[in-house]
Order: sequence, then structure tokens, then C-alpha cells
Amino acid sequence: MHFKLSALTSVLALFAVASTASPLEARKALDVWNPRITSPNADTVWVVGTKVNVTWDTSDAPQRISSGSAVMLRNSTGPTPADLYLKKVNTFDLRDGTVEVTVPDVPPGTDYVVVLFGDSGNWSPEFEIAAAY
Ligand SMILES: *[C@@H]1O[C@H](CO)[C@@H](O)[C@H](O)[C@H]1NC(C)=O
Ligand SMILES: *[C@@H]1O[C@H](CO)[C@@H](O)[C@H](O)[C@H]1NC(C)=O
Repeated sequence: MHFKLSALTSVLALFAVASTASPLEARKALDVWNPRITSPNADTVWVVGTKVNVTWDTSDAPQRISSGSAVMLRNSTGPTPADLYLKKVNTFDLRDGTVEVTVPDVPPGTDYVVVLFGDSGNWSPEFEIAAAY
């Protein structure tokens, strides 16, 4: 009885391995990676004109990443003033987990977010940008 049960478990385990290794699943993993932004976060205050790092979690990064990378600054509740790429498309590697940017000269506000592309845009929490001292 015990033998039969463990044999069945092994078969199920093999099946699970086989199905996660299928090309379709590998493709899906490649396409849906959506790195979680760790900075800026809700406690962050950026100052106009200073250098800051945008960072994200790479612990679940797939081996191959299909799409380009970019970081944009957005107003989460309204239109964003100007075309605010903090880092233009394909100028850094998503697997690095960090990219240094200069805070652009935008109006002070507490409703900014950064969007990290990726496969789809991943939004940070809202954070503050303060005027230069
Ligand atoms: C950003 O991160 C890099 C690498 O960790 C570090 O060398 C650099 O000093 C950081 N820049 C800022 C503004 O914190
Ligand atoms: C963001 O948009 C909202 C709604 O239009 C506006 O009230 C707010 O002032 C904007 N913030 C900045 C920093 O532009």
C-alpha cells in the first residue's frame, strides 16, 4: 500500500516536472516576468537634480528576457508633464536590478510613480519628488 502510494506520487511528480519544462510554460515564464520595484517606495523622497537609483527584485528573473527595458516617470493621478523617460529603451539590463537616474526638473508632488518596462509596465508605489534646495 505504501509502495503503491509513493509510486503514484513519483508518477505525479514526474508529470509535474514534465509539464513545467514544456516549451509553452518556458515561453510563458519569459513573457510574464514583472519585476517588483523596491525603490522608490512609499517612503521615498527624490530631490530634483540629484542622482537616485531605481531598484527592483531580480530573484525570480527568467534566464532569457525577451523585451527591452525602460524607466518612465508618471503622475499616478493625472497627466505627466512632458515625455519623462528616466532611462530610455534598452540602455540598461533588466537583470541588473538597479539603474541610476537623475531626477528631472518636474513640479514638486507626492503622486509620482515610476514605471519599469519590461514585458508590461510595472508601477512603483506613489512617492514624493521635492524641489531642489
Ligand atoms: C546606485 O547603485 C550603484 C550600484 O549599487 C552605486 O554604485 C551607486 O552609488 C548608487 N547611486 C546612488 C545615487 O545611490
Ligand atoms: C498630478 O495630477 C493631478 C491631477 O491632474 C494634479 O492635481 C497634480 O498636481 C499633478 N501632480 C504633479 C506633480 O504634476
